[in-house]
Amino acid sequence: MILGVNVDHIATIRQARLGMEPEPVMAATLAILGGADGITVHLREDRRHINDRDLDLLKSFVPVELNLEMAATKEIVKIAVKRRPDMVTLVPEKRNELTTEGGLDMRKTMKSIKNVVKTLKDSGITVSLFINPSEDDIEMSKETGADMVEIHTGSYSNEKGVKQEKELLRVIKSVAKAIDIGLKANAGHGLNYINVSRIAEIDGISGLYIGHSIISRAVLVGMERAVREMKELINHGCGR
Ligand code: PXP
Repeated sequence: MILGVNVDHIATIRQARLGMEPEPVMAATLAILGGADGITVHLREDRRHINDRDLDLLKSFVPVELNLEMAATKEIVKIAVKRRPDMVTLVPEKRNELTTEGGLDMRKTMKSIKNVVKTLKDSGITVSLFINPSEDDIEMSKETGADMVEIHTGSYSNEKGVKQEKELLRVIKSVAKAIDIGLKANAGHGLNYINVSRIAEIDGISGLYIGHSIISRAVLVGMERAVREMKELINHGCGR
């Protein structure tokens, strides 16, 4: 099972001061040391966190699978073809959303997605489509020529009890359908340390793509050490 770690939030913190730290490449390197099988970033049209320079550096420094999340727009497709990440995940993108809100609207966008999938695949990039847990959407994904789908687990993650069981069932059925028609099946969005196990247990699922909960935990588990190191510098100097 592959774990792709999304480091967008590292760039979000950097952009709070428009400075140099924290550096997404360093976060990616530490994530890989921790066992990440892949690194994901979302290059948004508004560049609110990850920017073109980050993508360039990550492409040079990441020795595992680099997955670029992106909208299927002309500008970003051009960048993907030039930078050649190992993999692209096509997502819907709205300027005012806090995070990707849903899967691709396959019925509406299928034709343009199909063209973009071809362009990306012709450049040697593996293509995944971020879709809602719907068997129809999986069939349409197959028709686009994509290699794999990432099933949106946001509804599963946001629910509890019986409603969550229902959402889990939708994800399970979607994964089975994808595999049955020859697509690799991944999942992601909203997964955390409490809800991830039941998704990881699904038969045949290839990879999980997780950002927010890992970065949130990293901030907290790293706090004690960060303060201790600063205290040592204040009390004893840096030894120069
Ligand atoms: N997969 C996709 C396609 C996403 O857009 C995101 C959010 O950037 C994730 C996975 C990760 O979601 P989360 O940050 O909730 O773990």
